[in-house]
Amino acid sequence: MKIQTLALALALAATPATLLLGADTQPAQPAPAMKSSVEKSSYGKLPDGTEIGQYTLVNSNGLSCKVITFGAIITELRAPDSTGKMGDIVLGFDNLDGYVKGHPYFGAAIGRVANRIAKGQFKLNGKSFSVATNNGPNHLHGGIKGFDKVVWKAEVYTNQLGPCVKFTYLSPDGEEGYPGNLTVIILYTLTEKNELRIDYMAKSDKDTPINLTNHSYFNLNPKDKENQADILGHIVQLNAKRYTPVDDTLIPTGELKKVSGSPMDFTKPMPIGSRIGKLTNTPRGYDHNYVLKSEVSQSPEFAARVYEPESGRGMEIYTTEPGLQFYTGNFLDGTLTGKGGVVYKKHFGFCMETDHFPDSINHPKFPTIVLKAGETYTQTTIHKFLVRVE
Ligand code: GLA
Repeated sequence: MKIQTLALALALAATPATLLLGADTQPAQPAPAMKSSVEKSSYGKLPDGTEIGQYTLVNSNGLSCKVITFGAIITELRAPDSTGKMGDIVLGFDNLDGYVKGHPYFGAAIGRVANRIAKGQFKLNGKSFSVATNNGPNHLHGGIKGFDKVVWKAEVYTNQLGPCVKFTYLSPDGEEGYPGNLTVIILYTLTEKNELRIDYMAKSDKDTPINLTNHSYFNLNPKDKENQADILGHIVQLNAKRYTPVDDTLIPTGELKKVSGSPMDFTKPMPIGSRIGKLTNTPRGYDHNYVLKSEVSQSPEFAARVYEPESGRGMEIYTTEPGLQFYTGNFLDGTLTGKGGVVYKKHFGFCMETDHFPDSINHPKFPTIVLKAGETYTQTTIHKFLVRVE
């Protein structure tokens, strides 16, 4: 049976992507082929009158991705299931209002420092800095008005890999308490190989911490509001033998703990829900940083593979980053209604935030997040979309 064959291929932890593709899946490719494009449209206005633009990227296989200038948010990502039917596999809202009212970072660019900084305090070059404590006692995802809430400049960008939009933001010295004038560029490319490729670059005129990521919530089996289900049946494999255990406020203890023999182990493909009940955190679920490698890599390397058996959709993640925050939407509690009237309940989406480890700025043994003045920060993460071959 085809599903089993794929499960078998997935079970081979060391299986190169090419073999997986050759054996059981192929790049998501609905017929007929079309011309790739990038189109700009209006996405409405912020309460202060600022125009928000939307860019729609379509590759020649018909995959599409929409991004808006508010928060550089990915609002829509359409990929085919195993029958070729397109579906929007990211959580979000039908219009700007939903994003402005406040939400748990659906699809957003995160910065300056993704994840947590303990008590909003850090030292850099002997100087103490205080940033907002917007998550219990800690700083989370760049503060009160992080990169997820600012308006980015956007332009269509020529990229031979596929349709592309370039976002730019100039974060002034002192913004959210961080030092240095920081220029940030994000390229979103929908490649002809059916990948969403996100390239980040940044430069500062003072030494400053930086840790950028994207906070998309995925559900590879999207349905209408009556039938939408959680992601616990998605099968996940993570290329990580260790993770960073945390305290009650989700700050790492500093240990790099082995995943083996625990519900944290996704070195072999496992349904997300298979051992989630054994976790003891509140609200229960995965919200942990996995250690992919000890340092950044020059080019993106295999980090994760996800497969949803009913739809036949698969996704692989490749990144230059050393960490991946695997988050199973534990804080979604049914209070937010998203696209198509779908009520987002617990575990209705999962995130794989590729970045550095939480609270790195206070852990000298973790890979550094300090960007030196005048140097260039880069990070690349690729989401590759696949389908089971029927
Ligand atoms: C990150 C954090 C989670 C949660 C979400 C947003 O993934 O690790 O704890 O705060 O963002 O709800």
